[in-house]
Amino acid sequence: MCGIIGYIGSQDAYPILIQGLRRLEYRGYDSAGVALARQDGSLAVYKARGKVDNLETVASARDTSGNAGIAHTRWATHGEPNDTNAHPHTSQSGRIAIVHNGTIENYAVLREALAQHGFTFKSETDTEVLAQLIEYVQNENHCDLVEAVREALLQVEGAYAIVVTEQGRPDRLIAARKSSPLVIGVGDDETFLASDATPIVGFTDQVVYLKDNELAIIERGKPLQIKSLDTDEPSDIDIQPLKMSVAQLEKGGYDAFMLKEIFEQPSTLLDCLRGRITDDCSRVVLSGVVENAERFLQAHRIVIVACGTSWHAALIGKRVIQELCKIPVEVEYASEFRYGNPMIGKNDIVIAISQSGETADTLAAIQLAREKGAWVYGICNVVGASIPRNTDSGTYIHVGPEIGVASTKAFTGQVTVLTLLALCAGQIRGTVSREKVREVAQALMKMPETIKEVLKLDGPIRQLSRMFTYAHNFLYLGRGYNYPTALEGALKLKEISYIHAEGYPAAEMKHGPIALIDREMPTVIIAPNDSLYDKIVSNVEQVKSRGGSVIAIVNPGNDKMERLADCCLEVPEVPECLTPIVSSIPLQLLAYYIAVNKGKDVDRPRNLAKSVTVE
Ligand code: G6P
Repeated sequence: MCGIIGYIGSQDAYPILIQGLRRLEYRGYDSAGVALARQDGSLAVYKARGKVDNLETVASARDTSGNAGIAHTRWATHGEPNDTNAHPHTSQSGRIAIVHNGTIENYAVLREALAQHGFTFKSETDTEVLAQLIEYVQNENHCDLVEAVREALLQVEGAYAIVVTEQGRPDRLIAARKSSPLVIGVGDDETFLASDATPIVGFTDQVVYLKDNELAIIERGKPLQIKSLDTDEPSDIDIQPLKMSVAQLEKGGYDAFMLKEIFEQPSTLLDCLRGRITDDCSRVVLSGVVENAERFLQAHRIVIVACGTSWHAALIGKRVIQELCKIPVEVEYASEFRYGNPMIGKNDIVIAISQSGETADTLAAIQLAREKGAWVYGICNVVGASIPRNTDSGTYIHVGPEIGVASTKAFTGQVTVLTLLALCAGQIRGTVSREKVREVAQALMKMPETIKEVLKLDGPIRQLSRMFTYAHNFLYLGRGYNYPTALEGALKLKEISYIHAEGYPAAEMKHGPIALIDREMPTVIIAPNDSLYDKIVSNVEQVKSRGGSVIAIVNPGNDKMERLADCCLEVPEVPECLTPIVSSIPLQLLAYYIAVNKGKDVDRPRNLAKSVTVE
């Protein structure tokens, strides 16, 4: 949520900053801006409402020279998305410019105090308050900007990742973080700063993940300095390799990142499984689980916390863990967990699921769980993100960068890892038979091929989508393992096509949603040949007898559904716990094509951001 980038070196900063903003645009696209610090001592600031393209139009008519600068793409929290509220924000004198990701919680108090000292404000943002506060501290203390930034941040409550530049100092950038991510890319005589590693890829493969409460001073010709915000003591600098390629960040011939990511699923699932199942499919080895076998043996309960699509994966995780490990599982929205007086004991395991590893509510839930003495296991995609660094153990899903705002390959990766976790912990606990392990492990190993089969539905779904593009409401129904799949299918459609869609447990339909069904409201039903198949057939009869049209996701040889539904999309049969993986993919494609038919910007849906780093 909000993307920031900084560059200092011998190249022109502007094109690097703009390219970086484009890679970060999935974090927000309400407005964008750039500040360039020039050798002649000037500081140029350009901003525009809307996407990065608008900023380019504004800036390309002006002087974009300079070898140092900062830039920002915004997801509005304080103040409407307009030019004035766009970052970078400058201080009263215009000397200091700052980009910020996060929320300054005590900004109103600080703003009031600064106003009493004669500061006036152009924008409604919390970030401008911080820029002014830094200037105020510098004026009062007659100190260097580094010290002013540190002193100012000590007065701030909330979350921030910031990069600061200053008129007359094109040789230096200052950055700091607390609860919002910031990565430093260390190149030859050049340094990059960004909310995540994507803008850095292709320039350098050496990165430092700034830790909470750290301040970095990047000065040309001098080694990188990092120190503690609290104590001012130097911190160790841990340079890590960056394993990401430019190709992973491009659309690779697809019309949208979302479509590319849907089609990547055969290979992302392979990456996710690699090294985790023995060749003979007799054992599943997740190191995070094996190394902590005692925890899983002693566990009385597992509580899974997550948001959005990750929460839907968690609901599937609950079912598979309960089936294979016989441990009771509760699933909580991370945001509700925090405020629900959670009762956590020392024999409880908390699992946090997050694609980005930066979701503020999930991070806060982890912190609370740890304060209560829980042992926390993370399931994440982004390597080195805050969640994997704040959990006791965990597993990466390894599906590569997910850029489309609507999550697709991360969802199937999360379900896969949860299944692996259930199998591995089930072996440790002796609650899963060898035959079951082999059956599910073999099906998982075949999953890349199975998904290739599912993706052959692309053409038929594209055609089918035309019939439903103008529906105003959709109902998604599923049972058991596929109730969460129904929720996820509905979410995909809502997110990118702005069509109202509800996911419901199929049998619950008769307690309310059935009243909505008419010829105008299509129902998508997930009906694999599983233990609940016959029950779901009668749910479909109920829809049909009220004139509703039905799209059914089925397995081959499904005569009953073939007769009832208006359209059947056939996916290969897999063990029940894996049905959400194969059933969710047609739903991803259906949402994608409906949104495209409606002319929507699939990768950048309105009001959404991929990484939600505010509460
Ligand atoms: C946002 C994204 C969703 C994502 C959710 C949780 O809402 O748009 O796609 O599922 O955040 O994000 P996380 O990174 O924690 O999985």
